[in-house]
Amino acid sequence: MFASLAFRERYLDVLASIYIYNEFRGYTSLDRVLEAVRLRCPDEPDFQHEIEKHRADEEKHYHMFRRWFERQGRMPLRVDSGVGHIDRFIQWVFHCTIEELDTGAIVAAPEEFERLCRVIMLTEQRGYRQVEIILKNRLIMSDPVMKKIFEIVHKDEPDHFLPYQNWLERQGRATAKWNERAADWCIHKVLMLVKLPALFLDAGRPRMERWPDEDQVANAA
Ligand SMILES: [Fe+2]
Ligand SMILES: [Fe+2]
Repeated sequence: MFASLAFRERYLDVLASIYIYNEFRGYTSLDRVLEAVRLRCPDEPDFQHEIEKHRADEEKHYHMFRRWFERQGRMPLRVDSGVGHIDRFIQWVFHCTIEELDTGAIVAAPEEFERLCRVIMLTEQRGYRQVEIILKNRLIMSDPVMKKIFEIVHKDEPDHFLPYQNWLERQGRATAKWNERAADWCIHKVLMLVKLPALFLDAGRPRMERWPDEDQVANAA
């Protein structure tokens, strides 16, 4: 009984730590995307608004997970970009970190901008499918707050890939390349089969000392 309670607690702790990282990374990275879209598509205010909504949703998700941790009375486990789907995907496709993405070069080259849209579209489609799996997981659903969080995430998620998918369709370039799909698949498998179990078993893993958005405010000041 105690063993299963401890397992559940650790599993939720690890899962929420991975999610809070990805939500934070998601909304802060979308600032770079918005910058590119405003330059590349100045006459498409609807597309810009859709991405602004996407950013706002990811920030909302981040705060839902933050509140979950606050209710538990602890900070998230300290994780690095190894658990970030978008970090790994950008690295794989553009051979650089999100911070190093050259917005000017992406805006100047149509194929680069389309590639960025496909990376976000695939990442968000993956996220949507993952939440569908989570919603069927009894262990995760046994935590009522976590259940509510994932129901909200599930409802929001289509608005996160459809803007990019629709934009690509308007350009006649909706289909992701086979190597981008393969990259997405491999990144997901490594995350679920290697990173998540390794974090689960890492009993000495330290916790964050500050919330990532606190550091962001400090950096901006
Ligand atoms: Fe999200
Ligand atoms: Fe999302």
